Amino acid sequence: MGMYDLIYKKKIGGSLTEEEIKFIVNGFTKDEIPDYQMAAFLMAVCLKGMDKSETIALTMAMAHSGEMLDLSAIEGIKADKHSTGGVGDKTSLVLSPMVASLGIPVAKMSGRGLGHTGGTIDKLESFPGFSTSIPTGQFIDNVNRMKMAIVGQTANLAPADKKIYALRDVTATVDNISLIAGSIMSKKIASGADVIVLDVKTGSGAFMKTLEDSTALAEAMVEIGNGVGRETYAVITDMNQPLGRAVGNSIEVAEAIRTLQGNGPEDLLEVSLTLGSYMLLGAKKAGSVEEARKLLKQTITDQSALNKLAEFVRAQGGDDRAVYNTERFPQASIQEEVISDREGYVTRIITDEIGMTSLVLGGGRETKDSVIDLSVGIQIHKKLGDKVKAGESLASLYGNNMDKMKTAKTRYLKAYTIEDAKPDPAKYIYGIVTRDGLTQF
Ligand code: URA
Repeated sequence: MGMYDLIYKKKIGGSLTEEEIKFIVNGFTKDEIPDYQMAAFLMAVCLKGMDKSETIALTMAMAHSGEMLDLSAIEGIKADKHSTGGVGDKTSLVLSPMVASLGIPVAKMSGRGLGHTGGTIDKLESFPGFSTSIPTGQFIDNVNRMKMAIVGQTANLAPADKKIYALRDVTATVDNISLIAGSIMSKKIASGADVIVLDVKTGSGAFMKTLEDSTALAEAMVEIGNGVGRETYAVITDMNQPLGRAVGNSIEVAEAIRTLQGNGPEDLLEVSLTLGSYMLLGAKKAGSVEEARKLLKQTITDQSALNKLAEFVRAQGGDDRAVYNTERFPQASIQEEVISDREGYVTRIITDEIGMTSLVLGGGRETKDSVIDLSVGIQIHKKLGDKVKAGESLASLYGNNMDKMKTAKTRYLKAYTIEDAKPDPAKYIYGIVTRDGLTQF
């Protein structure tokens, strides 16, 4: 078997065997296959596609290229959730303590912010002292004892994906459903959970901008997960505006805490309840979505989810007093308002621009080595469909540098379209994909 022949086979639309795909992934990971051959192969995949068995073989070869986390020492059915990335997306911080407080083990590996999207690991560092890299033994002990732990992805999690992704990024070969689905699922499968609930975002702040592409990605990932014995669901959720009203790091954690106190924004609560319900269904804690929602809502009413968050923060070395008093989080020194220059209704928000505004303020990374300012961010006052008067504030921006603040204000204002006609109400959820297929909402 040679790489030349395999590139040729894909170029003419052939289907590769599991052995052939393993040969490519392992050879590239070990530097036996050069970048130029791998790039040619990836381009052939983009042009000719991969079928179901090829996509599963690719996913599993990448998952097995590094450490496969063994969670068998954790009792019970382990549930995980993954988002394809959005702006203001703090659902992991809301639903993990809800689900864990009902006795379902949540052993989660999360990522850092990427481009205009935030990451759970950065946000959790808002708690002074919080460690996102505890040893595997402690990770497993914590989940067994208190049902919840969240750590950063280890360097040895699906290293083949890391190397292939870096090459895709510079060869215009990112946007292929099989490659994206395989990339995401390889990391989820290597992370060891039995139940995987995927939050596939769609819209102007999402990786996938159209509902058609988001649905295709959701279906591909559910097919992979169920195909390799992991109970997998995908919920297709809206990203045509930020989720909730806070964008940044500590400001998002504070909003997640308010949600656990029963005072959160409706969209964030709804998306968290839906994702959490499928975690409960998969873990056999509930027999229906309705029953699952009831159980999850109860964790807010009786404060068990809020207390679980505090217990989890403490167990990973963080100062849990901020859970009960969010003024303990790092605070920015400057607050400025983004003022609307006209009256009307908010009809469009370029959501990735809102993410970029937070990044400009210092809440994200401009380069790989940038240090995040956890205190900066955005509190949104006007969302899609809201009525705005001229001179009213669309959002409060929090920062620590006046030059950055000026750029951020201009950028934020430009992301909004305000028109005379009231738009249709915004949707939160578009559909759910299970092993039985897509249900549209
Ligand atoms: N996120 C990933 O992890 N992989 C992709 O290919 C795209 C988004």
